[in-house]
Amino acid sequence: MELNTQRPRRNRKSEAIRDLVQENWLSTNDFIFPMFLIEGKNKKVEVASMPGIYRWSSDLLLKEIEACLQLGLKSFCVFPSINDKLKDKTAKESLNTKGLYLSTLKLIKNKFPEVMLMTDVAMDPYSSDGHDGLVKNGEILNDETLDILCKMALAQAEAGADIIGPSDMMDGRVGRIRQALDKNKFTNVSIMSYTAKYASAFYGPFRDALDSAPKFGDKKTYQMNPANSTEALIEAELDTMEGADFLMVKPALSYLDIIKSLKENFTLPIAAYNVSGEYAMVKAAAAKGWIDGSKVRDEILLSIKRAGASVILTYFAKEFALTNKK
Ligand code: PBG
Repeated sequence: MELNTQRPRRNRKSEAIRDLVQENWLSTNDFIFPMFLIEGKNKKVEVASMPGIYRWSSDLLLKEIEACLQLGLKSFCVFPSINDKLKDKTAKESLNTKGLYLSTLKLIKNKFPEVMLMTDVAMDPYSSDGHDGLVKNGEILNDETLDILCKMALAQAEAGADIIGPSDMMDGRVGRIRQALDKNKFTNVSIMSYTAKYASAFYGPFRDALDSAPKFGDKKTYQMNPANSTEALIEAELDTMEGADFLMVKPALSYLDIIKSLKENFTLPIAAYNVSGEYAMVKAAAAKGWIDGSKVRDEILLSIKRAGASVILTYFAKEFALTNKK
């Protein structure tokens, strides 16, 4: 028998060597920080199921973005919490240029033009039904929803969005939004498609934060079945043909195989959304002293990167930036 001279441990013998051979690194360049916006002034309200994550009024949101910029974060995605009284069947409030969301986007872009500002396109924050699409007789209508989503995307582009993030999972929305943007001279506005967005219980804390849970039923007729992987390839193919600039997988941690398969089969940059429930689990276990929260955080973020995501939307972004400050 030939003597095997390979000893993989040699490449692990010191930190210097480990760092030399390390294949994946995390940096603040990788992250988009999702942030929650509420009405009012001087408001900072912690999300009960997401310790360390707040719902900010626009004045304080601006200050928080400034603090994040100083820590090296450059990219933000803002989600609005809309007053119940303003919600209706057709999500009209989403087009109100003087309303909470659009006016705040404008403020952010005016104050920090260098920031990458991503916005959310979907009806649920503004919908009295709490669904991402238009509801008629208990059904979520696809094509009727597309018209609303296009208007929403245009209003957000007008307000200064750099990347539009359709999170609704209606068929054909990327193509329709691309067309609408291009027709209105927004050829430079990008689309990060929520390509493979699963019908997941990991969104629970987010729906608490925005009070956006569906008023009836679930989202299984538009979000994907967690049991499926091949279907993600169909979605990715369509989004690519329709003109997406990024393909996103959501949630991230239970769907690392999906991230990897999109990375292997497509050339567009892959993003992953490390969602609210994934954040909450780490925080809850860490608070009990059952895990080392920061180490688990970095391990999770690395696993998402290793799987093939070059962009990570994560509530850990600021915390990571703080702990890894030079
Ligand atoms: C809805 C939307 C959701 C999230 C982002 N956009 C929840 C849902 O589909 O019900 C979840 C993000 C998270 O859990 O962090 N358009």
